[in-house]
Amino acid sequence: MQKHWWHKATIYQIYPKSFMDSNGDGIGDLKGITSKLDYLQKLGITALWLSPVYDSPMDDNGYDIANYEAIADIFGDMSDMDELLAEAKKRDIQIVMDLVVNHTSDEHAWFIEARENPESPERDFYIWRDKPNELVSIFSGSAWEYDEPSGQYYLHFFSKKQPDLNWENPQLRQKVYDMMNFWIDKGIGGFRMDVIDMIGKIPDQLIDTNGPRLHDYIKEMNQASFGKHDLLTVGETWGATPEIAKQYSNPDNQELSMVFQFEHIGLQHKPDSPKWEYEKELDVSALKAIFNKWQTELELGQGWNSLFWNNHDLPRILSMWGDTGVYREKSAKALAILLHLMRGTPYIYQGEEIGMTNYPFRTLEELNDIESLNYAKEALEKGASIEVIMDQIRQVGRDNARTPMQWDTSKNAGFSISDKTWLPVNPNYKDINVESALANPESIFYTYQKLVALRKTQDWLVDADFELLETAEKVFAYIRKTEDSSYLVVVNLSAQEQDFCYDFDRAEVVIANTELEPIADQGKLQAWDAICVKVK
Ligand code: NOJ
Repeated sequence: MQKHWWHKATIYQIYPKSFMDSNGDGIGDLKGITSKLDYLQKLGITALWLSPVYDSPMDDNGYDIANYEAIADIFGDMSDMDELLAEAKKRDIQIVMDLVVNHTSDEHAWFIEARENPESPERDFYIWRDKPNELVSIFSGSAWEYDEPSGQYYLHFFSKKQPDLNWENPQLRQKVYDMMNFWIDKGIGGFRMDVIDMIGKIPDQLIDTNGPRLHDYIKEMNQASFGKHDLLTVGETWGATPEIAKQYSNPDNQELSMVFQFEHIGLQHKPDSPKWEYEKELDVSALKAIFNKWQTELELGQGWNSLFWNNHDLPRILSMWGDTGVYREKSAKALAILLHLMRGTPYIYQGEEIGMTNYPFRTLEELNDIESLNYAKEALEKGASIEVIMDQIRQVGRDNARTPMQWDTSKNAGFSISDKTWLPVNPNYKDINVESALANPESIFYTYQKLVALRKTQDWLVDADFELLETAEKVFAYIRKTEDSSYLVVVNLSAQEQDFCYDFDRAEVVIANTELEPIADQGKLQAWDAICVKVK
């Protein structure tokens, strides 16, 4: 089987508004990212995934694109983008762009034309109906918005400023592929594909994800754009099962490199409930069962996993399942070791490598995220109390991941010299910041650095099988086995001591957040112990 660079890569996700502000306007930008490439090189990552930096009215922070071939003013301009690409290349870092083609902004030229001129070809680039049906928007309310002049409704699965594109139109599809080729010609390393499983929707049949022509479109996209290049492509697919993930990522199918599946993230809320009905207590047995299924089903050659705890839509993993108190550092390392030694391509979300946490939001005024604000409005109208809503937002709201990156102990954590940043800086920045992490050889940063280096150099991380071990409930242990070697990974996902008996005779430590001897001698794991050993 042909191996690609991304099999041995670790990807770092940047949320551009929050990474580094170079011009003092309180918002991160491209020059800010370029100024931090040396830091990212030190971490060792192979590629950056940039959340959208395109021209946009920022109704959904750039996931509403007005021009795919221009950069938003707040981030800089195309020369800044070219500079970032060139500087990244010098450091062997690829740039993976966010591809948002399920919808555009209502300020995109296509939609403006479609609205103003119902006879234009662009009208059919979007989805218009005379009457709405019961489809609802992921950002609350109906998924249909009335357009008074034409007397029709258009579909928007996200905000009403994000009209859905009509993938049944071949001209539209060709325009998307041309745009992708524009970016490929610039030398990017790939695409992260926003809600790609929604492009095959059939609104009249209430089909949103996994529509019947979805895989035809992706195959066509592959042929017409990235298929001729060695690029990383990762689809965001909330509705993927292992079967579906294999359809996308089996190399024989010529679709994508991998997808983001979210089954483990589903444990963060009550079963069959919206995300706001959150569940903080980690069901470790369920987590083990889910990872075991994905790890064993997506065998090398049959498919490929992506591995992540965090992204810009999710709460910080430490606040959700780790420990933000005395075991902050240890639990962060434990979660990292558990995830990064599985089979798949790991993703690190900005700030994860220094153990950043959720923000203590107290009022709606401190928020920016349209999803949280729409939810709060709707829930208040239905009679929910503001205390309950704020608690939900503090636990699972998207702004938790989006507060500025914490670089040092200076004003605004060194993120910006402005008096006001677009989202507040977490008050814990004096303790949690890059500068302190780099100065401490025992910090979370260096565990991530080592994991990234292992990923690049250890073939077994790509090739070895995965076998879950039966253990005490709160212990997650697995063996990665190749023909000539075996590696044990064992993690205590709790603050309580746990039994773990194993014959560690002649075991060699690969990476750990603890010492091997006490575990081997006593058959016990202490709070958040995590260790990987090569076993004979
Ligand atoms: C998924 C993105 O990750 C999220 O941030 C965005 O709001 C929606 N797709 C709509 O583009």
